[in-house]
Amino acid sequence: MNNSKGASGLKQYPAPASHTPIGVFDSGIGGLGVLRALMAELPHERFVYLADNAHAPYGERGQDFVLERARALAGRLLREHAIKALVVACNTATAAAVRALRAELGQLPIVGIEPALKPAAAASRTGHIGVLATRGTLQSAKFQELLHGLGHHPARFHLRACDGLADAIEKEAVGADCARTAELIGEHIAALGALGRSAGQIDTLVLGCTHYPLVWPLWQQRVADAATLLDPAAAVARQCRRVLAERGLLHPPHLAAAPLIQWLATGSPQTVQAAVARWVSVERL
Ligand code: DGL
Repeated sequence: MNNSKGASGLKQYPAPASHTPIGVFDSGIGGLGVLRALMAELPHERFVYLADNAHAPYGERGQDFVLERARALAGRLLREHAIKALVVACNTATAAAVRALRAELGQLPIVGIEPALKPAAAASRTGHIGVLATRGTLQSAKFQELLHGLGHHPARFHLRACDGLADAIEKEAVGADCARTAELIGEHIAALGALGRSAGQIDTLVLGCTHYPLVWPLWQQRVADAATLLDPAAAVARQCRRVLAERGLLHPPHLAAAPLIQWLATGSPQTVQAAVARWVSVERL
């Protein structure tokens, strides 16, 4: 990996301006849940969503691969769309790349997403929390720091690397048959241990990959009232608003901001188009 190449290559972009769009990327369609939350929080903004589906899934690839993809996507969004801020709508990419991107793109506000461990610790009554995420996220130094940062907290975190799940969601979520996805959700939850509200049981589940909340009804079916599901998308959107406001980069509401969303894919656009039609409100397109 060549850090200096990434840094010198990306510092050449102009200073962010309030009228340009916010760039959002993920390995595929998972980040659309974050995009939806961003649109609700920031109704005057324009967005460019980039799905790196030619290189998905990220979760079972190495950190260096994901870092290079993040650099390439950030570079493309800056070059072709002059984005004023970047939302890394992917836990795996945030873990692998957000620090490097911040160091390399000093003036660009960058918001990442990470598993909601702190909110889970605050919400759990039994003190047993299940964390479902990709292998890449759970093995990252950033996640380990997040976990150790809660070291004083008595909560116990049960970690599960959900191999295959983001890929199944990418392939099935826009279709009628989610059988493989439902099966994997069942297997991964079962591997965590007993869910429930009694002492010793897991009563809170952190969905630590942005693909997972896209199939929320499947989680609900499996979990029912036994545990509370946590998705940090709305918190990410609030953080994005704060960061833009601090830097004076919120879009002026009196200026027209159409088209509000543009979406791009490095691979086949069909799934992304279908997913946008399903999860992102059509009036906003
Ligand atoms: N949606 C991404 C995440 O939040 C990555 C899933 C994948 O590509 O494996 O981790």
